[in-house]
Amino acid sequence: MSSAHSEGHSGTPATGLRSGPLKGRVRVPGDKSVSHRALLFGLLADGETRITGLLEGEDVLNTARACAALGAKVERLGEGEWRVEGVGTTGLSTPSTPLDFGNSGTGVRLMMGVVAGQPVEVSLDGDASLRRRPMKRVLDPLVAMGVEVAEAAEGQRLPLRLHGSAALKATSYETPVPSAQVKSAVLLAGLGAPGETIVVEREATRDHTERMLTHFGAQIRTEPHGPHGRRITLQGHPHLKGAPVDVPADPSSAAFPLVAALLVPGSDVLLTDVMMNPLRTGLFTTLLEMGADITIENERLEGGESVADLRVRHSRLKGVEVPAERAPAMIDEYPILAVAAACAEGETVMRGLAELRVKESDRLAAVADGLAACGVPHRVEGDDLFVTGGPVVGGGPVTTHMDHRIAMSFLVLGLASQKGVSVDDVAFIATSFPSFLPMMRDLGAVIS
Ligand code: S3P
Repeated sequence: MSSAHSEGHSGTPATGLRSGPLKGRVRVPGDKSVSHRALLFGLLADGETRITGLLEGEDVLNTARACAALGAKVERLGEGEWRVEGVGTTGLSTPSTPLDFGNSGTGVRLMMGVVAGQPVEVSLDGDASLRRRPMKRVLDPLVAMGVEVAEAAEGQRLPLRLHGSAALKATSYETPVPSAQVKSAVLLAGLGAPGETIVVEREATRDHTERMLTHFGAQIRTEPHGPHGRRITLQGHPHLKGAPVDVPADPSSAAFPLVAALLVPGSDVLLTDVMMNPLRTGLFTTLLEMGADITIENERLEGGESVADLRVRHSRLKGVEVPAERAPAMIDEYPILAVAAACAEGETVMRGLAELRVKESDRLAAVADGLAACGVPHRVEGDDLFVTGGPVVGGGPVTTHMDHRIAMSFLVLGLASQKGVSVDDVAFIATSFPSFLPMMRDLGAVIS
């Protein structure tokens, strides 16, 4: 494991300091969800998958290594440009060593679905953060379909060993939690089962798996289910054929320079090629409601996803209430929204945050502790977070708990603070946004 992956490592601290106007035009790295899927579906397809704009963060690189260990030929051709020669939906080989997914829940959970329908034996592991995260939510439906969990740590956690099966049974499964990872794992397992595999979700989650599997030749039907949900039907045993994937910029990464530009007086920043999939843009909706000056320019369709350039200028934000049903469309953005809320006038209420407790860290606790360290009034009631903002934020030392988004969010708060905000470890930022520090400094952020 790399140094960023051992819990005991000493950490690389950094401090975000009050900054002058942020200015410039940037393209944040490729979307993490799409990048993982491009590699995994490339592995399962026959022939060549060419990927451009792949996120070359540690999480995705671990997925690339895992795909190679299962038999794909994975080559880096240039910056963000990759080629995967797949093995087809029945061609995986048993890897000789455990697959290490580092910090990545998406990588490991989707891979469980990938191996489910093939007669291979696979050991899966990750870092201390990933070993704490729940895997039972994925294992339960997969076991019902015929996968065997040969070994697992207490509570069905990593490290664990799975036996896939060439005789999987199709299923109809209603996800108990709104999770694109659980949905995707079941759909990927369904590729190896005859007949229709159905996933029902009460609240629609990001649909990159459905879009990209269709792009690779699978038959998938999506219907509405209740007021906010979807019912997805996949036809098993498709022939997947390698296809080109152009990865748009990650809206979850764009969120950091975007909120930084809103908070720092005089800022004017253009974020280009940002994916605008409506199941990912909850933060933008919320910020617009808060009074943010964001103009959506040049909206277009690229590779089946809508993308746009976002022009962002410093704004006076006001507190709003974010409804629970918006949570799936902005699940990774609550830490940076809490930072925006800390600088907004009045109270911001964020409802329905239960899933934040099982991310790379317990993000609800990590955000609350970080706000407390910076002197920002807030409270957690059940699964809801209340933040009272104001024109002056003090600052202080924040613990990141092996969580890239906690580190980036609080460094951004530092840029608009009186005393600066220091974080104990920036190493994990490399999992999703390796160029974060130089990109922010190029815009004018002072991060020491
Ligand atoms: C992801 C789904 C979400 C999200 C994660 C990426 C995906 O997780 O938090 O960063 O690519 O499917 P859950 O499915 O656990 O909500």
